[in-house]
Amino acid sequence: MDNPRAVTQTLVSRLTSDGAGVTLRRSIGSQVLSELDPFLLLDNFGTENPDDYIAGFPDHPHRGFETVTYMIKGLMRHRDNTGAEGLLGPGGVQWMTAGRGIIHSEMPEQREGEMSGFQLWVNLPAAEKMCDPRYQDIDPADVPLVSTEGGVDIRIIAGSVNGVEGPVNGIAIDPTYLDIALGKEGVHEQDIPEGHTAFLYVFDGQAEVAGKSISTHELAVLGVGDGVRVSSSKGGRLILVAGRPFGEPIARYGPFVMNTKQEIHQAIEDFKNGNF
Ligand code: FE2
Repeated sequence: MDNPRAVTQTLVSRLTSDGAGVTLRRSIGSQVLSELDPFLLLDNFGTENPDDYIAGFPDHPHRGFETVTYMIKGLMRHRDNTGAEGLLGPGGVQWMTAGRGIIHSEMPEQREGEMSGFQLWVNLPAAEKMCDPRYQDIDPADVPLVSTEGGVDIRIIAGSVNGVEGPVNGIAIDPTYLDIALGKEGVHEQDIPEGHTAFLYVFDGQAEVAGKSISTHELAVLGVGDGVRVSSSKGGRLILVAGRPFGEPIARYGPFVMNTKQEIHQAIEDFKNGNF
């Protein structure tokens, strides 16, 4: 790393509710930061109170982008109108490319105990928005864990750390998605491709990034450069995410993200007429 990235913006995620009444914290996709090209939304769910998650996310559509679910604790069952079904457990990842459209549900498979994790929305380039839906369902055992000499445990969902590659592949943004657990006095320097949009989100403890202290539930947007240095005096855990931006117009209406208003109207029509 020759040119470390600085923090250009921070924001504290906001408590909100989505689905049938799931309490979560939203950072990207909020009024403060509507998008961070190519990222459209970041939700962090994390609670021990079943009332905050039990209602889940019953049947709903998506078109024009990808949803990435990373479970940290708990069990979530996924079903869709193509017949695909899967159970996401702790440490598991689902990278779903909605493409031209799917209707799915994401429901907790537990009635008590903690449920926590992330859902990230990743845009698709115009040329791929109407592609066939597809999935990468990744078992926790297939997410490599690298423990560094700097006292840091890194789970690699996408991208690479010290030559170890994450399992996600074939994604338009060429993503980096790391879960970084910094022990007390832990330090890690991570390469990030130049030109990629990058952010991190602290979900436990605290982290120092380029001279700034980032607290729990805070998102930090990173500036230009070829990497980032993260450390923590007290210990902390964060996700670090990066990807190639598209620089294309965004037209957005709820679960549909296209390039033009006309394409949004078409998505609403297609959904109404059962053409998903
Ligand atoms: Fe969904």
